[in-house]
Amino acid sequence: MKSNIEIQRIEKSKIDSVDFDNLPFGSVYSDHMFVCDFKNGEWQTPTIEPFAPISLDPSSKIFHYGQSIFEGMKAYKDANGNKMLFRPLDNCKRLNKSAERLVIPQIPEDIFMDGLKKLLEVDSDWIPTNEGSSLYIRPFMFATGNGFHASPADEYKLVICTAPSGAYFAGKVKVLIEEKFARAANGGVGFAKAGGNYAAQFYPTQLAIDKGYNQVIWTDDNTHQFIEEAGAMNIFIRINDTLITSPTSDRILDGITRKSILQIAEDNDIKTEVRKISVGEVVEAAQNGNLKEMFGAGTAAVISPIAGFGYKESDFELPELENPFAQILKKKITDIQTNKTEDPYGWRV
Ligand code: COI
Repeated sequence: MKSNIEIQRIEKSKIDSVDFDNLPFGSVYSDHMFVCDFKNGEWQTPTIEPFAPISLDPSSKIFHYGQSIFEGMKAYKDANGNKMLFRPLDNCKRLNKSAERLVIPQIPEDIFMDGLKKLLEVDSDWIPTNEGSSLYIRPFMFATGNGFHASPADEYKLVICTAPSGAYFAGKVKVLIEEKFARAANGGVGFAKAGGNYAAQFYPTQLAIDKGYNQVIWTDDNTHQFIEEAGAMNIFIRINDTLITSPTSDRILDGITRKSILQIAEDNDIKTEVRKISVGEVVEAAQNGNLKEMFGAGTAAVISPIAGFGYKESDFELPELENPFAQILKKKITDIQTNKTEDPYGWRV
């Protein structure tokens, strides 16, 4: 497939209109996108073409039955102009896991990886170099095949587009621990990066925003007693000197940042526990002063410290620490991602 990508370059780049010193998250798009169609039972010759609207039949199944999945990745550029990705094959494998659950065809790893690398070569000027910025990459696959019959489509599209981006959250995050709504259920699609998982969060999240919070921390759908994830990121909780995160399951996304943080923490003598963590334990730790930190971890969010949380009409603040784990771990992971340090794990590509 490698030599087979057709490249149609944009006539005039938009890059001069972009203020790289003031980049919002995911709202300014690079010149090109990678597109590959699945038709007649196989993936067709991919193209790299100018970033532009996609025209679809109104009966395409994406509009009716929501067969749509995505990934989030980032590319970085160091001071010497080296371009890097972080664990990109893990994203491709996760995309295929999501695809299997949504009955979307598997994308061969070489089509995904070759397309991604070629796209980044074509749009390499779009990879920011400013501290805290990166090129956010959004691969997504959806049903283009049509029909109102509620069954999987026969045609799909994989698109990869990119957006030079700054931080996802402007500052520290205030979260609300959810007591009523649920993000995912056993046997459902919570582990997949399905577009619908995110749409289903908007209503409860809006209710939380109206109360002054930025994000919801989801609890299990059955008892609402156990912490799951925050929807846009996995959650880490530090009680005394132990960093705890929930195990992945049918309901929780297997975050690439999450698993990288666990590895880095363990290798830096930070005690970690992957186990169920109850809301009661977190509230009690907050009340007796043992709750030291909470933070979210994800590709977009990187590591986002949580300033406080709400639960059942009460608010709890987290202490300001001298040298929080969040800061130590964020530096370690971003140094690996941006080529400022050795990468003992072979994660940087
Ligand atoms: C990411 O972290 O890349 C995600 O896909 C989360 C999304 C809500 C921005």
